[in-house]
Amino acid sequence: MAFPAGFGWGAASSAYQVEGGWDADGKGPCVWDTFTHQGGDRIFKNQTGDVACGSYTLWEEDLKCIKQLALTHYRFSLSWSRLLPDGTTGFINQKGIDYYNKIIDDLLANGVIPIVTLYHFDLPQALEDQGGWLSEAIIESFDKYAQFCFSTFGDRVKQWITINEPNCLALIAYDLGLFPPGVPHLGTGGYQAAHNMIKAHARSWHSYDSLFRKEQKGMVSLSIFAGWVEPADPNSVSDQEAAKRAIAFCLDFFAKPIFIDGDYPEVVKSQVASMSKKQGYPSSRLPEFTEEEKRMIKGTADFFAVQYYTSRLVKYQENKKGELGVFQDVETEILTDPSWISLYWLYVVPWGIRKLLKYIKDTYNNPVIYITENGFPQRDPVSLDDTQRWESYRETFQELFKAIQLDKVNLKGYCAWSLLDSFEWNEGYSSRFGLFHVDFEDPARPRVPYTSAKEYAKIIRNNGLEG
Ligand code: NOJ
Repeated sequence: MAFPAGFGWGAASSAYQVEGGWDADGKGPCVWDTFTHQGGDRIFKNQTGDVACGSYTLWEEDLKCIKQLALTHYRFSLSWSRLLPDGTTGFINQKGIDYYNKIIDDLLANGVIPIVTLYHFDLPQALEDQGGWLSEAIIESFDKYAQFCFSTFGDRVKQWITINEPNCLALIAYDLGLFPPGVPHLGTGGYQAAHNMIKAHARSWHSYDSLFRKEQKGMVSLSIFAGWVEPADPNSVSDQEAAKRAIAFCLDFFAKPIFIDGDYPEVVKSQVASMSKKQGYPSSRLPEFTEEEKRMIKGTADFFAVQYYTSRLVKYQENKKGELGVFQDVETEILTDPSWISLYWLYVVPWGIRKLLKYIKDTYNNPVIYITENGFPQRDPVSLDDTQRWESYRETFQELFKAIQLDKVNLKGYCAWSLLDSFEWNEGYSSRFGLFHVDFEDPARPRVPYTSAKEYAKIIRNNGLEG
């Protein structure tokens, strides 16, 4: 099962989840610093990312892991407030630039292609204090930050992700209030935040396009979280519609404006409008794009970046209409019996990834696709011999192979989440996604490969599965 020549085999991480050094060398606070320091049992054992994997000082150790796997790509994120402590270009932290320059240069010296995420959940606190993603002012701040990153690192970085999982972030942070700033705005905040994220992404893509592309010749996209969904009863029309709606509220919500026509899916607009009306709102809770904004948003991605973790069966329930969906709100049922694994939201369904890829191919004009995250968590305490987890990875690779060979999906690369066990947001360190185990009790934070890492290295060496 050889993959096409040049297929990208990567692993991913994000700044807050691995770096630590939360106030080192002039870094400004991000929203996760504030949130974790407040305590209040919103995070497993009130753990923080103050030290995390220590990657701020232990980057060389991460590089060893990357070399051990012989990754072709490494996806990591820049900490906005390490580079720009108050979120603006008014003050630039040279130590932050030095840190990321070293990572980029070391990767390239070792033949590893960097995929760089500008923003992975860790907004500078100073910008949150001005309203964060609920405020339109963020669009300008994001664009300036993006331009700063393109001009500082874009001579060497050719593959950019602007925003990581805007759909999860909008819902979890600004609607449910489970991520910082921790204030729920049920039914409204998620849409407002998502609306601003789409505009911020589009603005920064245009900045790249007009100011940097000619010289730098890179690609810019955003990473959308998407699960697959099937109707619980394949013969029920209402279940089929509920399944389509779940995809519309999760993936298409962001992908349709950006890849097709600058506007939200019709079903999203009509559903939110009718529910808002029933609830007595004067107008739809979903903001509208102006015609000019639609033109600005349309076509602002150079490849399709998607993150897949799980699938669901969807059953229509009259009183549980799906809105801004990453499964919290959609009409869901459990698809498989999670006998051994996972977070409360994650059921292991490797075949769902093939269906999702086919859906993206058919709906979005056969784009170049990168899976910028996919992985499987283990619960602490774990065994280094994670053969069962490796089985899920292997099945996933078989599905990817079929997607490329049989469905002719234009899949160019895959990043396992994650290189290291790291800070898993509300789950703290209790949920381990790493290919390498990290001992969070040991100040040296030793990295030790799981069986999955050794097996993944073989896949990379063979450019595919044997047999
Ligand atoms: C997606 C997020 O981007 C990442 O930060 C997180 O750790 C993984 N999902 C696993 O939940």
